[in-house]
Amino acid sequence: MDFILYETDGAVATITINREKALNALNSQVLDELDAALDAVDLDVIRCLILTGAGQKSFVAGADIGEMSTLTKAEGEAFGKKGNDVFRKLETFPIPVIAAVNGFALGGGCEISMSCDIRICADNAVFGQPEVGLGITPGFGGTQRLARLVSPGMAKQLIYTARNIKAEEAYRIGLVNAVYTQEELLPAAKKMAAGIAAQAPIAVRNCKKAINDGLQVDMDQAIVIEEKLFGDCFETEDQKAGMGNFLEKDKEKKLKVVPFQNK
Ligand code: CAA
Repeated sequence: MDFILYETDGAVATITINREKALNALNSQVLDELDAALDAVDLDVIRCLILTGAGQKSFVAGADIGEMSTLTKAEGEAFGKKGNDVFRKLETFPIPVIAAVNGFALGGGCEISMSCDIRICADNAVFGQPEVGLGITPGFGGTQRLARLVSPGMAKQLIYTARNIKAEEAYRIGLVNAVYTQEELLPAAKKMAAGIAAQAPIAVRNCKKAINDGLQVDMDQAIVIEEKLFGDCFETEDQKAGMGNFLEKDKEKKLKVVPFQNK
């Protein structure tokens, strides 16, 4: 792959978008490679994924403006679909994905971070949806996910004005969970990922699915989704070991990492 780096450390994998000369902007090739990289993640081993950008300056500076500049209406729609398909794959990826936002997260960069389960950022991060200044709408899910993540009013203000916001403001409006120095960001992401990877993996996956699927429906349907995923955890090795260790008052084993069951 030309634009994607993939490394693993135990049960944690890191995908780095590596197109530093263009501030990691997303062209079709980057999107195709990201799609392929996600397909290649060994889900029998990896329990948490980190997504970041290469270099010190930018996470992802958006979709590639050069590539988009000559698109027809039909091609524009197809490009939107290409991005949306990959981002939806990320959003519904079976394991949690942490966006470690190390600089510019503009347009498609803000949008890809919002497709991740958790966003943390460096103090040099800048978020924004500058698309209306380019004569387009956000096209990789920004109009939908920003309104759901912050509030419709705040999302509308940011999108209509094309105003970029710094890390602290992103934290204040709930777009990111925490702000770190640039040096601390990746270690913090890896520590969080390891903490997730140490939990019972089927339970973690089911939590992700319950939260994601439940948010799409009303509460009556949502609690049924939870009930099914809750029930699905029973009789697993993780559940037996996790509860058994607690009942045996075995503090050592209580925190034991139980093997992933590939049901
Ligand atoms: N597409 C293509 N190339 C990009 C890019 C993008 N989104 N963002 C940056 N680059 C390229 C620049 O063209 C430049 O390339 P050259 O060296 O070959 O000229 C290189 O990256 C470095 O960029 P700058 O010289 O502009 O760096 P800077 O520090 O002066 O500015 C910046 C940084 C403020 C992020 C500026 O690059 C910028 O405004 N980029 C565009 C941000 C943007 O508008 N993103 C939204 C795109 S639209 C979108 O994403 C639609 C969607 O929802 C799907």
